[in-house]
Amino acid sequence: MSITIKPLHDLFCAEIGGVDTGEPMDDATFAEIRAAFEEYSVLVFRNQTLDDARQIAFSQRFGPLEIAGKANPATGTPFARQSNLDIKTGAVIPPEDRRMIYQKGNYLWHSDSSFRGVPSLCSLLSARIVPPEGGNTEFACMRAAYDALPEDIKQKLEGLIAEHSLVYSRDTVSVGSMTPEMIAELPGAWQVMVRTNPVNGRKAIYAGAHASHVIGWPQEEGRAFIKWLNEFSTQPQFCYSHAWRDGDMVMWDNRATLHRATAYDTIRHKRLMQRTTVGGDAPTVPQPERYELGSAAG
Ligand SMILES: [Fe+2]
Repeated sequence: MSITIKPLHDLFCAEIGGVDTGEPMDDATFAEIRAAFEEYSVLVFRNQTLDDARQIAFSQRFGPLEIAGKANPATGTPFARQSNLDIKTGAVIPPEDRRMIYQKGNYLWHSDSSFRGVPSLCSLLSARIVPPEGGNTEFACMRAAYDALPEDIKQKLEGLIAEHSLVYSRDTVSVGSMTPEMIAELPGAWQVMVRTNPVNGRKAIYAGAHASHVIGWPQEEGRAFIKWLNEFSTQPQFCYSHAWRDGDMVMWDNRATLHRATAYDTIRHKRLMQRTTVGGDAPTVPQPERYELGSAAG
């Protein structure tokens, strides 16, 4: 079996056809998908047979999965559940509920788990219940953004390290939306600001909403620089907006893209997405002693 690859954007993103990720897959087919992932950064699969066990099985072919901890309501499972529906009752969660306020952080451009000592390789998000309008997920190509940077900024970025923190990014949305337990579990991490793809050598800006400041710089100067980088990288020409359909599975490279959720009517419409997150293989830079890698990678 051979997959089909249809580019969805000039710079990145492709729709993969001729395969159902929910079915057992031979190594040759998986190798084609893996190669497309390295090349296109965002892969869209339509009309998939989706359930939790199938999503886990396919996701695990890319590597070990992160386990959602106390920082996610789906404690102790590989799923980061994104929904306005109560997991037990299925009722719509009111907008003022802490769980809904917490999800507002997803409206900021970010790279999943960049606040972990070993940041994520990729995320896989499947559409289980799609609202009739709104709720797109948008992606930004951080390779194209890097390529478009002025030469002096590229040079400035080499060797720079940023501190990433979930507490920092959530506080920019709503101060105090994280519990002390969540804060203890995810203290933060240091990350390089340029990542290089090991297969094709393409460089990508690594920043996003969890990036708080630049190590060794005055805090406000670093913050302003990161803000500028995030705005530069997410200009419309670098972005793809995915309109979800039932049966969609989309996966993205957290090393080379930023993404964000967009709004939908959470009172009138239902939405349920299930995300699995594949861990990376190593820290991007040695971590300061105060961050225990064990807990940061958990
Ligand atoms: Fe995300």
